[in-house]
Amino acid sequence: MTLIEDPMSTAYEKPDFSRHANVAETAPAFLSVWNMHAYYGESYIVQGVSLNVHEGEILALLGRNGAGKTSTLRAIARLDSPQVTHGEIWLDHKHLHTMNSHQAAVSGIQLVPEDRRIISGLTVEENIQLARIAEPTGWAPERIFDLFPRLGERRKQEGVTLSGGEQQMLAIGRALARDIKVLLLDEPYEGLAPVIVDEIEKTLNIIKEQGITTVIVEQNAVRALMLADRAVILDTGQVVFDGTAQEVLDDEALRAEYLAI
Ligand SMILES: Nc1ncnc2c1ncn2[C@@H]1O[C@H](COP(=O)(O)OP(=O)(O)OP(=O)(O)O)[C@@H](O)[C@H]1O
Ligand SMILES: [Mg+2]
Repeated sequence: MTLIEDPMSTAYEKPDFSRHANVAETAPAFLSVWNMHAYYGESYIVQGVSLNVHEGEILALLGRNGAGKTSTLRAIARLDSPQVTHGEIWLDHKHLHTMNSHQAAVSGIQLVPEDRRIISGLTVEENIQLARIAEPTGWAPERIFDLFPRLGERRKQEGVTLSGGEQQMLAIGRALARDIKVLLLDEPYEGLAPVIVDEIEKTLNIIKEQGITTVIVEQNAVRALMLADRAVILDTGQVVFDGTAQEVLDDEALRAEYLAI
């Protein structure tokens, strides 16, 4: 893919991605998206998104239906669609924007899509083992079962027969089974009872303590903001807010305008 400096300006200055710069002062965040534009065919969806995620941080990526949240996650994970035409994506000093989805995964990006993609015909354990079939691998099954005891109890059960919450746990567990640096979660709480959301939230905090960086997209914005350190709000494919999660919780007008909460 050819990358061109985009004439369309954003509010962001291009970060200094140089390894040689004074790291403390000028190094980009762990995951940096700079002026990313992406299309589905002719449809211009991601319209100059810039965002930074620091190592070990949880970022909530929020916005109304159709704001471009899923598209932004897919673009970062380097899936074939939407197609990124301009911009840069950096992870830990590596340029993801020149990579395909497989290479991005090997570099440590793991996307847990909204539909979870549990493989039918395989048990819980086999779903995890399949994720560990190729190097570089991450957490061993026992460590994943320590984090999600429900999965351990159901390790011989077919993955698709699990409850929605357990399937979400398996999808996250499978991402951890890879050598992961950044977990991209698309609506992990969707359709789950509050008590299960509590359980998953607890594990996301443990995952954070292990140093993994997370981007969470959620319609349940309040829950996501309670978990997250920082928040980025998208509207029609553009960033309209970038700040702390607490600022969003405190700003009723902002929430009403962009999150309808
Ligand atoms: N495969 C596709 N082809 C064409 N347009 C698409 C495709 N997928 C999404 N879009 C459009 O891109 C825009 C952004 O969609 P996206 O799924 O990224 O939004 P979202 O913020 O995740 O919304 P939601 O909260 O409903 O999940 C929408 O207008 C949507 O209709
Ligand atoms: Mg979506």
